[in-house]
Amino acid sequence: MTTIVLDASRPEAVEQAAGIIRRGGIVAFPTETVYGLGADGFNAVAVERIFAAKGRPADNPLILHVAGEEMVDLVARGRPATADVLMARFWPGPLTLVLPRREEVPDVVAAGLPTVAVRCPAHPVALALIAGVGRPVAAPSANRSGRPSPTTAEDVMEDLAGRIDAVLDDGPTGLGVESTVVDVTVSPPLVLRPGGLPLEALREVLPGVRLHPAVLDGGKGAAEAGAARSPGMRYVHYAPRADLILIEGPPDRVAREACLRALGLLERGLRVGVLATDETLECYREAAARGVIVRNMGSRRRLDQVAASLFHLVRSLDRQGVAVILAEGVEREGLGLAVMDRLTRAAREVLVVR
Ligand code: TXA
Ligand code: MG
Repeated sequence: MTTIVLDASRPEAVEQAAGIIRRGGIVAFPTETVYGLGADGFNAVAVERIFAAKGRPADNPLILHVAGEEMVDLVARGRPATADVLMARFWPGPLTLVLPRREEVPDVVAAGLPTVAVRCPAHPVALALIAGVGRPVAAPSANRSGRPSPTTAEDVMEDLAGRIDAVLDDGPTGLGVESTVVDVTVSPPLVLRPGGLPLEALREVLPGVRLHPAVLDGGKGAAEAGAARSPGMRYVHYAPRADLILIEGPPDRVAREACLRALGLLERGLRVGVLATDETLECYREAAARGVIVRNMGSRRRLDQVAASLFHLVRSLDRQGVAVILAEGVEREGLGLAVMDRLTRAAREVLVVR
């Protein structure tokens, strides 16, 4: 199969992509978070093609993307009151709601669960595509299963060229981390995955919202205990080919530790990459001069910059063939909670310095 790249700035391109999906094809498209891989949400055969293209385990359900609140009732059986409040406040946007599922939703979409995940993306191309398809679009992130999510059409092609029908190219996505997933079928609601909508913003509307315990331990402990509610939390995720080592603690200590480790690995003849921040970049001057590849995620005071660059930098270090990536941890506040969740899940080792 040849994957066609469609320039999303041409209106006919979006119509062409919608036609491919209506006929049972699978097309990658931009959202405000990351690129998704879409199929007609009511076409079980097409949705199965998504699982095959990604190599995704069949027990990990997909998100149904809608063009507006009116499409929700096609897939969800009633709406808890909290769902209406959250939709009114945060849609379109990076918030996915887990709702009671209607029987019409194919089993393969929901991985057989009695619930279904729904989100309305804040991206004109995604909204035009869903409207063009005329029904909800099932879409996971458009990466091979286990790899970092794609934030550009090139990232999508790196993983899926030849495995999908088309990609709608609209340049880099804005947020760079996936949506926040909230289960509103339980009371109080439960955050299953931190993401592009910060927990602080959710708490303004739902002060009682809880974080699933697996969010804080990177899924490791809870996964062993079989306690993960969001099936996706059980798997190795976002992982580069390189070994990623996450280093947490006060920024100056983190940078010193990363520097020492980088130079040690370099001496053993390994290619090393570092994910640094504005505030620590200067600490790596000597390491960079000696061949360590140092990339800047952005400012610790602008965690939106860190979120937006994270997956793309990890992928670009992988392309440069590094054996090890040393990543600086950031504060778990605002978008930092999602950034740290992704880094923890991608990490082979987490080091805390004091
Ligand atoms: O920002 C995003 O959410 C992107 C864009 C493309 O919309 N999509 C995305 O999809 O990240 P995916 O498949 O990579 O992640 C969906 C997450 C998984 O952790 C999955 O287990 C969870 O949502 N999920 C889906 N349906 C669920 C359900 N019924 N109950 C609990 N968790 C569910
Ligand atoms: Mg994903």
